[in-house]
Parts: sequence; C-alpha cells; structure tokens
Amino acid sequence: MSKTYNRKDRFYTQAKESGYRSRASYKLKEIQDKLKIINAGNRVLDLGCFPGGWLQIAAELVGESGLVVGIDRVSTEALPNPNIKIILGDLYDASARDEILNISPERFDIVLSDMSPSLTGIKDSDDSRSAELLQLASGFAREVLKQNGTFVAKIFPGHDCDLFVKEERKKWGTFQTLSLKSTRGSSIEKYIVGRGM
Ligand SMILES: C[S@@+](CC[C@H](N)C(=O)[O-])C[C@H]1O[C@@H](n2cnc3c(N)ncnc32)[C@H](O)[C@@H]1O
Repeated sequence: MSKTYNRKDRFYTQAKESGYRSRASYKLKEIQDKLKIINAGNRVLDLGCFPGGWLQIAAELVGESGLVVGIDRVSTEALPNPNIKIILGDLYDASARDEILNISPERFDIVLSDMSPSLTGIKDSDDSRSAELLQLASGFAREVLKQNGTFVAKIFPGHDCDLFVKEERKKWGTFQTLSLKSTRGSSIEKYIVGRGM
C-alpha cells in the first residue's frame, strides 16, 4: 500500500510547538542522538540552511563557544543566536563559497548538507541533479573540513546517487547510511555520514 503524505504530521506539530523553523530540525536531532556528531565549541557549516531548523539545533549543540555558518540560495530570516552566521548564496557560485571561507578561515568540524535540488519530476534528470549537488557538497566539504571532520548529507537513492555513494564510501575513514524515523513516510531520502579523511 502506498504511504500518504501528511504535511502536518507529528514532527511538524512538535516543531511548531518548540519554536523550531522546520520539522527537519528533528532529523538533525535524530542523527545527533544516534551518532553524537556535534560537540560544544564545534564549528559547523550548514549547506542549504533555509528556513533554519538545522541552524537552531546546531547552535544549541555547539553553544556560545561554537560557530554555525549557514548558506542557502533562499533568504533565511536572521536568528537571535549570536553564534549563527547566515549567507545568502548558491553553493555553485565561487563567490558564495569564498564568503564562507571569509566568515570562517578556520576549518570546520562538521559540514551538513540538507540541500535538495529543484526537482523537474523527470526521474533521470532529478537523479543526476541530485548526484551533481552531492558532488559539489562533498568536494567543498573536503576543502573546508578538519582532517578528522564529519560530513553529513541527504541523498535520494537512484542510479547516479547510488554511484556517488559507492565512490564516497571510499573517501572517508568511516561511512554510514542512515534512514531516519523523522523522515516523512512518503520520502525515499536517506542520510550519509562520512567521518575522517
Ligand atoms: C530541505 S531544505 C533545508 C531545510 C533545513 N535543513 C532546515 O532545517 O530548515 C533544502 C534547501 O537546500 C537549498 N539549496 C538547494 N540547492 C542549493 C544550492 N546550490 N546552494 C544553496 N542552497 C541550496 C534550497 O534552497 C532549500 O532551502
């Protein structure tokens, strides 16, 4: 039986009640509960941060001594946390990537990517766009991460995406694929977590 899409599900309601900007907050919480990827004082880069749910969770975890830099091609309304810096830009643009390096010349402990490409509805085209975006995120993550850093990215399994994951697996000291309870029942998304280069 196919699963139905319920926009206002349990995580949506919980996010609203807790003041989180998106139900996606619970995905990062779930990854953190499972793998403890973010610690106090860490520097975190959040690729595709709009509307800001992951920024809020990451900022809570790193605390005042840490830093969370977010980037999205959609404007993200400022958050009150002094440890969050937000950039409006497209990761495909070198100038946007330079801006990240200007804000944080020091390397990051964690790079998160919850980026989703604009979908066309054409399966092959969406799969290749998704894999291309993952290549971009992974390549940039490897440029800006510390040697023992962690890369987390959303994937949508498909032919090109599976090829990407196969290659990516070889690039990290440890590599995991996660399915989350907080992912909508109607979605095929998973997350990959690579640690140590
Ligand atoms: C699912 S949303 C992220 C939700 C976010 N993690 C949260 O907790 O609120 C995916 C975002 O990826 C962004 N995105 C996709 N491609 C991008 C790119 N090339 N550069 C910057 N942002 C991108 C989209 O604009 C979109 O806002």
